Amino acid sequence: MTLWGGRFDSPMSRALWDLSESFSFDRALYAHDIRGSQAHVEGLRVAGLLSDEEAALLVETLEVVRREFDEGTFTPAPGDEDVHMAIERRATELAGPVGAKIHTSRSRNDQVATTLRLFTRDALGALGARVLELVDALVEVAARNDGAYLPGYTHLQRAQPVLLAHHLYAHAWSLLRDVDRLLDNRARMNVSPLGAGAIAGTSLAIDPAVTASLLGFDEAFANSMDAVSDRDFVAETLFDVALIGVHLSRMGEELVLWTSAEFNFASLGDDFTTGSSMLPQKKNSDVAELARGKAGRLVGNLTALLVTLKGLPLTYNRDLQEDKEPLFDSLAQVDRVLVALAGAYRSMSFHRDVAAAAANDDLLVAIDIAERLVEEGIAFRNAHERVGRAVGDAVRRGVSLATVVAESDDLAGYADLFAPGHALAARRSPGASGPAALVDQRRRLEKRLAAAKRRVLS
Ligand code: ARG
Repeated sequence: MTLWGGRFDSPMSRALWDLSESFSFDRALYAHDIRGSQAHVEGLRVAGLLSDEEAALLVETLEVVRREFDEGTFTPAPGDEDVHMAIERRATELAGPVGAKIHTSRSRNDQVATTLRLFTRDALGALGARVLELVDALVEVAARNDGAYLPGYTHLQRAQPVLLAHHLYAHAWSLLRDVDRLLDNRARMNVSPLGAGAIAGTSLAIDPAVTASLLGFDEAFANSMDAVSDRDFVAETLFDVALIGVHLSRMGEELVLWTSAEFNFASLGDDFTTGSSMLPQKKNSDVAELARGKAGRLVGNLTALLVTLKGLPLTYNRDLQEDKEPLFDSLAQVDRVLVALAGAYRSMSFHRDVAAAAANDDLLVAIDIAERLVEEGIAFRNAHERVGRAVGDAVRRGVSLATVVAESDDLAGYADLFAPGHALAARRSPGASGPAALVDQRRRLEKRLAAAKRRVLS
């Protein structure tokens, strides 16, 4: 039996039931739905629509239902179409006739909007904390490999030497922006839709501000139609997660490269790699590939919701029920990737000699020679041209740039620039990749990380 039996002569067909039931997945919302219902009951009491005794009984009964869910003893009934109806049905069974008053001045439309906001608000904080755990891992790995460096790449061609810490911090900065984005979203979405009813509010004397404040929202909705139909916060969350996924994917791709025999800059721990069912020698970085691979799914979930929303007339349409599975899926998947990637980084051995040798490729010194010429008063474009000719000679003759420089009349005095590690140390402008600049960057990063941790918890 559904709760709207009065108007209907025959029960819902099996086919429609299978299409429309959502309890199988939205039961994940039970705790937030119960919290919303308890606030709603209190709002009815304040409005004089429930007596003190009735309200106390309903709040206590809802608590019993919550315990049933917590303990896994909640038994769905055949008519429990979604988590909202399941909870109301069970609370009514337990509380008796007063149960029939729970849904006064409320619709599942404002109810589900409220429940999903409460759920998403918590999820955003939890996700932010997870992202920060990965940032912690990056910071740790940087500290553990103090002084290690590698070639930095543009176009995947060796460009200039960079400290490993500088490289890992680059990812940390993008993850910190992700956390900012999650928290901005959390602040923007913190508006209560409860009290909007089905679409147009109610003739009963409720005050949505009362329930808004009980539920920790900053304010109540201003427009009942917007309140019940807005899913921007879900779309934003899916975008935030998709962008995190894109960042994790880029990190994953890099680990795949670093751990290949061709680069050999790093290896992951045995506990974060997999073997091959056929090839005995294989040690695969599946963790990094899955970090890369999951991004497709996360972008897909965002796309799915945006397409669902795009043609909807105001206000609530059942299409909106399709908001939940992409949201749950994206949150669950990104969480797994974040945890596994943090573990993978922590398990990583960085091959500092291999990476340093690659970074000491003498072609990477070309820019330092040009900059030395600039210091001596030559215009940069002319300096670039002069060093470019030396590089061309070296490549044509099949000798090193150092050789060509040593043999030349005008550049021979710059042999010191080829000393291993010199090009790295020379990157000392603010924000640059060398050790002197890193000191300030590390300070800024630690400050920003600490602030993000405080905000996530607040
Ligand atoms: N399960 C529904 C959803 O997730 C709840 C709202 C249903 N409202 C309605 N009028 N059919 O959107």
